[in-house]
Amino acid sequence: MSRLAIIALLGLAPILPSSSSPVAAAPREPVATGSSAGARVQEHDHDHDRPATDGTYRGRIIADVMSYLGANWLMRPSRIREERPDEMLDALGIEPGMAVADVGAGVGYHSLKMAERVGPEGVVYATDVQPEMLRMLRRRAQQAGAANVRPVLVTQDDPGLPEGQLDLILMVDVYHEVTDPEATLRGLREALKPGGRLVLVEFRAEDPAVPIKPEHKMSVAQARAEVEPQGLPFKEVLDFLPWQHVIIFEKPADPADAEADADADADAEPPGEGPAG
Ligand SMILES: C[S@@+](CC[C@H](N)C(=O)[O-])C[C@H]1O[C@@H](n2cnc3c(N)ncnc32)[C@H](O)[C@@H]1O
Repeated sequence: MSRLAIIALLGLAPILPSSSSPVAAAPREPVATGSSAGARVQEHDHDHDRPATDGTYRGRIIADVMSYLGANWLMRPSRIREERPDEMLDALGIEPGMAVADVGAGVGYHSLKMAERVGPEGVVYATDVQPEMLRMLRRRAQQAGAANVRPVLVTQDDPGLPEGQLDLILMVDVYHEVTDPEATLRGLREALKPGGRLVLVEFRAEDPAVPIKPEHKMSVAQARAEVEPQGLPFKEVLDFLPWQHVIIFEKPADPADAEADADADADAEPPGEGPAG
């Protein structure tokens, strides 16, 4: 089969690079798992046979889940230049012995790097909704001898993590795909220790030069409007990466603080700039 025929089969044509510039030559998320509505109904059929949302959340279009068929894209060599994964992880202060999670781990690109950082005394829960992704992740972890990586198959309404045990939860290029943001954020908050951090790494919606489809980007305002009402106050945003925000939320040490923040945020309007992408 010719290359073009394969491209057409995978539905890549609409996002093929339109110029030879390095930025335009970095299309993303080549294959979705299906139409948004179809994917959502399927993922929620154990939960009253209904999608959690109408395909939007607080004015944002929820992106399709990136299919395992596009897993090679997660391992592309240009990712180091585009996303600087090691510098991003360095900035998070991951220490030996920590219990951390890579939520929406895909093939474990970050899980294995996190496993080195937490060391044999630590643990990395690597979750995904697609068993095929976890199969690839498990193989990679075995090859790397990373015995502290625990793959966990999860669902869109249950992040499947142990309660109150995590120092840090990382979601790289995942949150915008989550079809049940409230259930997911509730579960993530429960999984964090007091003072634990939720870190969303998302392509910048505020920057039209970032060559990513709009529904796969998030603005800081949008992320805050969605996460803070679930009892996870905003801590800071790190903006040293070429294309992505590193948006950090922290579970309060005192649960009463989180409830007060959540009540205040629930009354707030969604961000004025409209959908994040
Ligand atoms: C674009 S990939 C990113 C993978 C990985 N974080 C990386 O940066 O290499 C998004 C992944 O998130 C997973 N995903 C989507 N929604 C999820 C959810 N609610 N819980 C766990 N994984 C999810 C998808 O199956 C897919 O593997």
